[in-house]
Amino acid sequence: MPEDTNYSIRRRLIAVATAILVSAPGSHLSLAQASEAEPAGASGGRPTTMKGVMTEIVAPQSDILWRAEEPASDEEWSRLEEAAIALQVASSMMTMTSTNPEDHPYQRMPIWRLLTDEMRTASIRALASIRDKDLDALFIAGNDLYTPCEACHRATYQKE
Ligand code: HEC
Repeated sequence: MPEDTNYSIRRRLIAVATAILVSAPGSHLSLAQASEAEPAGASGGRPTTMKGVMTEIVAPQSDILWRAEEPASDEEWSRLEEAAIALQVASSMMTMTSTNPEDHPYQRMPIWRLLTDEMRTASIRALASIRDKDLDALFIAGNDLYTPCEACHRATYQKE
């Protein structure tokens, strides 16, 4: 019987997100701590600060995609796959109310939703190109991924 793809992707997303959150060095990610004390969802979807999501997940994982050269092994391809999945998870986390009140004015900007959507779409395209083992398509998805980073930073903290 064929595997239920949606189910297995969802399980993988959760596994990757958990692994990243729990293994983040010197973690100031409150989700990792909250999940020990409370059942999933009990905290009302308040994952962490933007700074945490950016420095612990978004920056290192996008770097993996941008640095990708011809992967030699299945492990290298799956590392890329995990990076693309982690970015998808991160873009969803970015739409949840941050634990840092200083992030709230940014998150209320209409452009916030637009740019997190753009980031998610680029991550999904990156994932598809990795699964096709298509490096040219991954390069294009990588460029598409960079655009919302820059646009959002210019609209938010770099403006000050
Ligand atoms: C929708 C908005 C948004 C998008 C998209 C976004 N960021 Fe950010 N990013 C922020 C905000 C806001 C901060 C500032 C957080 C803080 O310092 O409190 C930030 C901070 C950062 C920082 C830390 C900078 C510093 O000097 O401390 C890095 C690194 C970073 N982002 C990387 C990225 C990358 C790479 C991408 C794209 C793959 C990206 N970000 C996409 C909003 C965004």
